[in-house]
Amino acid sequence: MKKITVVGAGFVGATTVQRIAEKELGDVVMTDIVEGLPQGKALDLMESAPIEGFDVEIMGTNDYKDIQDSDVVVITAGLARKPGMTRDDLVKINSNIVGEVCENIKKYAPDSVVIVVTNPLDIMTYIAMKKTGFHPSRVFGMSGVLDSARFATFVAMELGCSARDVDAMVLGGHGDTMVPLPRHTTVSGVSITELMDDDTIDRLVERAVNGGAEIVELLKTGSAFYAPSAAITAMVESIVRDQHRILPAAVFLHGQYGHEGIYLGVPVKLGANGVEAILELDLTEAEQAMLDKSAEAVKVGISTLDI
Ligand code: NAI
Ligand code: 2OP
Repeated sequence: MKKITVVGAGFVGATTVQRIAEKELGDVVMTDIVEGLPQGKALDLMESAPIEGFDVEIMGTNDYKDIQDSDVVVITAGLARKPGMTRDDLVKINSNIVGEVCENIKKYAPDSVVIVVTNPLDIMTYIAMKKTGFHPSRVFGMSGVLDSARFATFVAMELGCSARDVDAMVLGGHGDTMVPLPRHTTVSGVSITELMDDDTIDRLVERAVNGGAEIVELLKTGSAFYAPSAAITAMVESIVRDQHRILPAAVFLHGQYGHEGIYLGVPVKLGANGVEAILELDLTEAEQAMLDKSAEAVKVGISTLDI
């Protein structure tokens, strides 16, 4: 049985644990800084096992020793964005939290694959790579699966078709500069550029880019967690079941797409050892320019870090 740790027992963390358990992807350890919170949620989830019929252990703890030898560690610890707050406002607080979490991952789960979720995503993933010292193929961030799912949802709503038939692709940083790619967004294999006019596509692209903020505005306290936890679980599944799925993820670039030394969302192949390959799409000049702008925003964020 694989061992999966989820750090942070908040909305995203606990919902991710629920999804992982219900899919029986492995035994799960949920940690948090708040005493009783991970223990309470873990017990509550375990008590759903006789009803849901899953057969994995879920443990809640405040002690990092319990993450010993995890195969996968998901980092959701940190503050969530509040209305009016940008992802970058969170950088200072969350970099300290992610730094501390990573020192413990390095100590107790030195062979794990690490998926970062905490915002601002691309910057936190960079910190995680530096603080763990792990090879970048074992440290990457979740954003593209979520951003693509949002774009796919809006496409399905617009066309009145099943979301299952929509495959969307969003590149770039997890922020206002993300790059949805309509050319590579398809409905049963047909690009949406053949199914919708430009104004409609622009409207859906804008909604996808603002997808996180739209949920924050509605919820008023806290941010999205159902779609984020589904996105994380898809990545965890590809790793623990060695599925080699092609999914967008924030990965460390060393020359791909013309960028070096930063984390940025691009399509990758995900398997048991983490990122097995980075796929390079042929971008138009306009798409490449948008990706460069997104990379620039991530670079600025990284340059402010004191690590
Ligand atoms: P939340 O506030 O519900 O949960 C965060 C949890 O982290 C809390 O339970 C808190 O006690 C815990 N925590 C704080 N400091 C800690 C520490 N030092 N060690 C261990 N645990 C600690 O927030 P939510 O909604 O679960 O979001 C978590 C993070 O994920 C936020 O930064 C949010 O912005 C980000 N996020 C990122 C997404 C993405 O696409 N990458 C999507 C959704 C959320
Ligand atoms: C989202 O996109 C808050 O990053 C989070 O929902």
